[in-house]
Amino acid sequence: MCGIVGVLGRNQVAPLLVEALKRLEYRGYDSAGIATVNDGRLDRRRAVGKLVNLSDLLVHEPLAGRAGIGHTRWATHGAATVANAHPHRAGGVAVVHNGIIENFRDLRAELTAAGYSFESETDTETVALLMRQERDAGKDARAATAAVLARLHGAFALCFLFEGEDDLMICARKGSPLAIGHGEGEMFVGSDAIALAPMTDRITYLEEGDWAVITRQGAEIFDAEGRRANRAMTRIQIDATRIEKAGHKHFMAKEIAEQPVVLADALRHYTAGDALNLPADLDFRAVERLTLVACGTAHYACHVAKYWFESLAGLPCDIDIASEFRYREPPLSDKGWALFVSQSGETADTLAALRYARERVARILSVVNVPTSSIARESDLALPILAGVEVGVASTKAFTCQLAVLALLALKAAQDRGRLDAAGVAAHLAEFRLLPGLMNHALTLAPEIEALSEHLAEAQDVLFLGRGPMYPLALEGALKLKEISYIHAEGYASGELKHGPIALIDNRVPVIVMAPRDGLFDKTVSNMQEVMARHGKVLLISDATGIAEAGQDCWETLTLPEAPALLAPILYAIPAQLLAYHTAIAKGTDVDQPRNLAKSVTVE
Ligand code: AGP
Repeated sequence: MCGIVGVLGRNQVAPLLVEALKRLEYRGYDSAGIATVNDGRLDRRRAVGKLVNLSDLLVHEPLAGRAGIGHTRWATHGAATVANAHPHRAGGVAVVHNGIIENFRDLRAELTAAGYSFESETDTETVALLMRQERDAGKDARAATAAVLARLHGAFALCFLFEGEDDLMICARKGSPLAIGHGEGEMFVGSDAIALAPMTDRITYLEEGDWAVITRQGAEIFDAEGRRANRAMTRIQIDATRIEKAGHKHFMAKEIAEQPVVLADALRHYTAGDALNLPADLDFRAVERLTLVACGTAHYACHVAKYWFESLAGLPCDIDIASEFRYREPPLSDKGWALFVSQSGETADTLAALRYARERVARILSVVNVPTSSIARESDLALPILAGVEVGVASTKAFTCQLAVLALLALKAAQDRGRLDAAGVAAHLAEFRLLPGLMNHALTLAPEIEALSEHLAEAQDVLFLGRGPMYPLALEGALKLKEISYIHAEGYASGELKHGPIALIDNRVPVIVMAPRDGLFDKTVSNMQEVMARHGKVLLISDATGIAEAGQDCWETLTLPEAPALLAPILYAIPAQLLAYHTAIAKGTDVDQPRNLAKSVTVE
């Protein structure tokens, strides 16, 4: 989603702004722009498409100035055009915005009636024009901001720059996160700390409803009621190497490859020898029901976890897509817990679902990758997945680390509820210690998968099938493939095939069957036979025993190492990720920033 950066610098800021926007590219965007104040004069440059277009524009039409704001836009209101690109400007004010101004139609009508005209289709321009209206009425920048913020509904992060003010930025946060960076005689604003990482490691996160008046001397922060607020400054550690490609062609390739290492880190963190090492007050004994809520890939992680919590711990679970949950308004039990899973920790629907559950359940847990995120901060207990920064829009290492943390939680629940004793937990943890090695083994399939993907790239439609915990893996495999290769893909529970999707099968539709040789294998193989009887092209992903038993008439097979049942969904994620990655490469799509997608979905 949109990325925001602001710099009150000691030197020319245009190059810093563009560099910072590059670090925000991972969020997904379709146009970009910057504005600066130079000798009091406000000016801006904007371009559609990749940041290189903005950089090229700046070569021909440079922007001087030591104060500036920048933006990458992910279109919501109005297409990706220069006119809709940020910064938006009205009179002596420029603004960049992430989020949605929900009452923009009313505001737009009111401003139009007052004689102001619009140059774009965006909701953001209403903010710029409201500021102009307040300035026209004689208010200074600070008073105008307070008046405008009071009129905006929705979720937003904003950063303003003012003509005639070389030493002033004003920013505000409601719903969408915003970080202030502190330098020596310079100050920064960013959508996240990653944007600011090379410029400063001293960060203040604005809280919900906060806004700040920033000069090179520091930031004065106000809360939603306009009272001065003290917000802690923290030193962040973002290891630059973790946000570089480290020799890989794409972030996604790097993130797939580093899974054995980050997963081993997570396991070390949450275990102590043969025992679990989870917070002492995490006790599942009295929990009546667990409600798991998330979006996209994180939702599929919840879906797998449901099998684990129910089968290992006998704990009834509901899983829901966050955007449905919040409007369905489900009854929740005050003896139940709710668990929210989110890589970014900023997904608008998941955050809103958490707020809905707040007063309705006994405890709110979250499993996040960004420990400073809104979801983490609003939870009673946030468990980090320790995957490191994930840049590729297609979630890979975050998914497997989410699964690992959820599996450990399920073991804890099983132990608390008397379903597993210490020896049983120790046995599962011993299996877990095999996982990094098994994952390394799975990664060696890359050349085979690359060759296969040449064929997959020609398909119009692909089906993924799985049973039990492999069913959500089929859903995840299909999501990965469609999001980065743009091939239509669907995941189905194998047994559901004959209830409709089998009508799609012919010799042009690859069907990818994910089936470890477990208790459900024979049933899945029967469904696979139904596909082959209709000339479907089956790619069977299984272990050596499974391939020996059922691989003969398949179009292709991929052999994974034998894995304990608990670990199979984590292991089988790897071929699904590699298939999507190599198919996207074969199709020549933009792997790390696929079209229309954003890394952190901060609007509904
Ligand atoms: C996964 O590949 C996606 N890009 C997407 O489905 C993602 O998992 C979803 O938007 C949820 O994001 P979150 O984990 O940051 O909440």
